[in-house]
Amino acid sequence: MLLFDDIKNDKELITYLKYSDEIFASMGYKKHGINHALYTAQRAGFVLEQLGYTKRMQELAKIAGYLHDIGNIISRKDHARSSAFIAMAYLGGIQTTEEKYNGDVFEVFNAIGSHEDKETTPPTEIAAAVVLGDRTDVRSERLRSLGRDLSDVHSKVIAACRKTNLEVSKEKKEISLWLDIDTEICSIMEYFEIFLQRTFFCSRACETLKCKFALYINGDKFL
Ligand SMILES: [Fe+2]
Ligand SMILES: [Fe+2]
Repeated sequence: MLLFDDIKNDKELITYLKYSDEIFASMGYKKHGINHALYTAQRAGFVLEQLGYTKRMQELAKIAGYLHDIGNIISRKDHARSSAFIAMAYLGGIQTTEEKYNGDVFEVFNAIGSHEDKETTPPTEIAAAVVLGDRTDVRSERLRSLGRDLSDVHSKVIAACRKTNLEVSKEKKEISLWLDIDTEICSIMEYFEIFLQRTFFCSRACETLKCKFALYINGDKFL
């Protein structure tokens, strides 16, 4: 059976993630390596756990979350598709015959391949959990240096995000993102200038999970 802990400790995958992050560093992009992969995996699993989904679905969501950006090793462009192909090749090599023809592993490929489809609603609960894990990773630690150039708004927004917390209420059917933003670095308007589309994507992911999405910034409810 595919287990997240086995995937997480695989040296080949760790090498891919490290290498693709080095490429991103050379292009000046924020961190996209192991830390982002683990963060996405853990949050995706957490969301499904809190909503009462099975352990198996939590495990598949964590695997998809961990592998979602691995295609950056090939190119950032169309990396969702290349990530899905890498996952298929890799998981195909380690799965048993029964697992290969078991539909639930296809959900992993689909969740990875659709994680950048911002204009559409995530097709499955696993895909939705990966979107929430990925899109709520706005930690300032993802910037590569604190003495960074904050001339672009995207870097300013990330730098300003001091705290990000995701709360899931099964009873209220609500998933809330709580952000603490340093408004000395970036205004709330600048946040939405960059992250409005991301906010709607999170909202659509919540619809797939039959929940409402709520966004709080510095304690105020914006959605
Ligand atoms: Fe991505
Ligand atoms: Fe990502």
